[in-house]
Amino acid sequence: MKIAVIGSGYVGLVAGACFADTGNDVACVDIDEKKIENLKNGILPIYEPGLSDLIERNTQSERLKFTTNLKESVENSGWFSRFESCTFCCQRNRATYELSKNHC
Ligand SMILES: NC(=O)c1ccc[n+]([C@@H]2O[C@H](COP(=O)([O-])OP(=O)(O)OC[C@H]3O[C@@H](n4cnc5c(N)ncnc54)[C@H](O)[C@@H]3O)[C@@H](O)[C@H]2O)c1
Repeated sequence: MKIAVIGSGYVGLVAGACFADTGNDVACVDIDEKKIENLKNGILPIYEPGLSDLIERNTQSERLKFTTNLKESVENSGWFSRFESCTFCCQRNRATYELSKNHC
């Protein structure tokens, strides 16, 4: 399954890593460019036991990627084919309003 996880904080990052580790292709999206750049370089914004290993393993196997490109990620996850793919919103608050800012 192709999955876009929008918001790569405590909830989104852990969820995205676990989805990837169970065999899904996952794009973890965030508006914070520095956070995404750090994640691409293996620098995590949070500590959870085992998370670093999960992320390293799944980025290396290309099941997990980090991006600021929401539109592309949602389109690739197949927003409109709900039974074959998923998009999760893991943002702080008012997710629908925030999503509208991304012109999605
Ligand atoms: N952390 C918890 O234990 C917990 C428990 C229950 C519910 N929640 C809920 O889950 C959601 C996420 O919580 P969290 O702790 O992961 O928050 P967080 O602040 O750690 O992460 C949110 C991320 O979303 C990103 N973001 C904000 N607007 C965005 C946008 N328009 N597009 C892409 N990314 C965007 C932020 O940059 C941030 O990295 C919140 O609604 C929170 O209330 C969290």
